[in-house]
Amino acid sequence: MMAQRDDRLFFALDVGTSKVAALVARAGEEGEPLTVVATAMEPARGMHEGVVVDVPALTQVIRRVVQRINRSSPLPMDHAYVTFSGARVQSQNHRGAVGVSHGVVDKTDIARAEEAAKAIAIPHNREIVHIIRRNFRLDDHPVGWPEGMYGYRLEAEVHIISAEKTALLNLRQAVESAGVAVDGFVLGGLAASEAVLSQQERDVGAVVVDIGAGTTDVLIYSGGEIWHTAVLPMGGEQLTRDLAFGLNLPLSEAERVKREHGAAWWPEEAQVLKEERVFVKPFGQNRSVAITRYDLVRILGPRVEQMLQAVAQTVREAQPPTQLAAGLILTGGTALLPGVREMAARILRLPSRVARPEGVRSLPEAWRSPAFAAAVGTVRLARLYWSGEDWGASWTPPIGPWWRRVLNFLRDLLP
Ligand SMILES: Nc1ncnc2c1ncn2[C@@H]1O[C@H](COP(=O)(O)OP(=O)(O)OP(=O)(O)O)[C@@H](O)[C@H]1O
Ligand SMILES: [Mg+2]
Repeated sequence: MMAQRDDRLFFALDVGTSKVAALVARAGEEGEPLTVVATAMEPARGMHEGVVVDVPALTQVIRRVVQRINRSSPLPMDHAYVTFSGARVQSQNHRGAVGVSHGVVDKTDIARAEEAAKAIAIPHNREIVHIIRRNFRLDDHPVGWPEGMYGYRLEAEVHIISAEKTALLNLRQAVESAGVAVDGFVLGGLAASEAVLSQQERDVGAVVVDIGAGTTDVLIYSGGEIWHTAVLPMGGEQLTRDLAFGLNLPLSEAERVKREHGAAWWPEEAQVLKEERVFVKPFGQNRSVAITRYDLVRILGPRVEQMLQAVAQTVREAQPPTQLAAGLILTGGTALLPGVREMAARILRLPSRVARPEGVRSLPEAWRSPAFAAAVGTVRLARLYWSGEDWGASWTPPIGPWWRRVLNFLRDLLP
């Protein structure tokens, strides 16, 4: 049979602390990767540590991004999965058990067990964002997929990620005021994992660390499944501020110097780099002043070390059930800072790599950066949600305006 051609489009809107990025991808042939058809990006405003602090300012930015992407997107971006990162994210693993009703496990038993696992009491100021299937146990034995198996007691375990309700409401407000309906929220780190993590890495244990501008998402995978999710309120913005204060620089100049010459760590023997001169324009000086690259390392190094120590503590406290043999997969814009990888490997005593987004076609060169892993992962998740093949990323999307529209449309088709 010929593969079905599918022109469906998937829309992602990543609202980060430093940038708002939009991406449209086309489904294409069945079983083939998505093809990116449009991208747009603008510096963010009205965001602090991943949380909206000025709704009108953020709305304005989103409106500009949407206007720009609509120039090249085949359909206007009037709905999207919205990627976020801050908002006091918490996670927990939860189990639920049911008796198998007819001796052999059927779909209804699975659904009932999962319902039981999902039934947790969460405080009224929190909202569940993701419910991810972890595993099943049948009569206390781990099983892959229990359907059709004999047993008495079926237990399902899920990973539940929740965020602060008001923060999500504010984000929704900013996005919808820009004319974009929210298909669902996606945690940045979870989306990034979808774009950078291989199944082999999940199987042997890995930690995805998405170091952005205002937040660092930490996701631990073990035995093929997600084990722990946390978001730490720190990122590259702090590094920029440290340089600005340490060297009396305007923030924009500090940001430039950081990106062009910054480093977190340098091997002792690299004497030449200690002497490499960098020119900066401090406040109150009308011409550039020379510093060495090593001066930058001395300011950035301790802060990066502090951030990675916090990541290490998060991993320790999460008590992963197995080794993390695949080590650290670093992504997010700050992973581009030279020396971060080496320092992370040393502090967490794990192999480390810096990862760029993968698994889509026609991604523009400028987007093949760790900063866009979350946006790319979001369109991939959007397709999984749509197709229902979201094993490992299973999630019940809220019935937002767009879903209601789809449901109404389906209802209209029925006799
Ligand atoms: N080459 C580079 N060297 C060092 N830092 C960089 C480089 N490129 C980008 N950054 C930093 O990466 C950060 C932006 O990363 P990213 O786009 O992943 O964050 P974000 O998604 O906007 O924020 P968050 O996810 O924290 O809300 C900025 O702080 C920026 O200074
Ligand atoms: Mg981000």
